Amino acid sequence: MSQQKAKLLIFDSGVGGLSVYQEIQEILPHNDYIYLFDNAAYPYGELKRTTLINRVERLVTEFVEQHNIDLVVIACNTASTIVLPMLRARLSIPVVGVVPAIKPASNLANKAIGLIATPATITRQYTRELINDFSQSKPVEMIGSTRLVDMAEEKLRGADIDLKELEHILGPMKNNIDVAVLGCTHFPLIKNEIQSVLGSEVLLIDSGVAIARRVESLLTPTAGAGEQGQREIYSTAPPWKEKALNVALTSFKFDKVRHHPFEI
Ligand code: DGL
Repeated sequence: MSQQKAKLLIFDSGVGGLSVYQEIQEILPHNDYIYLFDNAAYPYGELKRTTLINRVERLVTEFVEQHNIDLVVIACNTASTIVLPMLRARLSIPVVGVVPAIKPASNLANKAIGLIATPATITRQYTRELINDFSQSKPVEMIGSTRLVDMAEEKLRGADIDLKELEHILGPMKNNIDVAVLGCTHFPLIKNEIQSVLGSEVLLIDSGVAIARRVESLLTPTAGAGEQGQREIYSTAPPWKEKALNVALTSFKFDKVRHHPFEI
């Protein structure tokens, strides 16, 4: 890549990828960012494997071409755990994925690891292999929940999280683990609430900072340091509670959501 600023595409099914975008743009503010979320097919954690692969392949490859993207971040564990090989074969630019941080968690856990992710992510072969290869024989307890994903979407639009409901979902692993992996990019958006339910003794880990460093290592330093790059955000369907969402997006330095209709 030349000494010009890069144009990055950050992709997810909803607002979760914003947690990854935040970490990346904090250390690389001068690049241009386009955030694309496929809310027409949300939640990804409930989609059939082949539907998800075909959708992401077409949507992302077409978008990369239309917008002259230099690097893609699939800021979604549910997609990354199955689409990365196909996307890397189709695209000639770097494709960075986000997968559950089992490896760092295993170095920090003394008792057991809790993996909190979508229903799809906890059943993936990729996740099973991560656990087999890196959990160093520490027990891994898993909870797959779409309700938690919805809660993050609601919180970003200004709703309060029902801590009793959260406690009900996370209760089964609460006293058994000392490290919890936030294996869905939506969950850092409700990290404080998850922490308050699991207790301060449980360490929460996500992949955001590691992904930001990986992206940094793939780009050349920008010549135009000092100026913030452009920010655009697109959705594949009209977003739910669009007005409230647009208000929240200003704190992520985005203007209003633009529409990029996509149906397969
Ligand atoms: N943010 C997503 C992830 O990291 C997907 C959530 C969903 O659409 O189910 O898995």
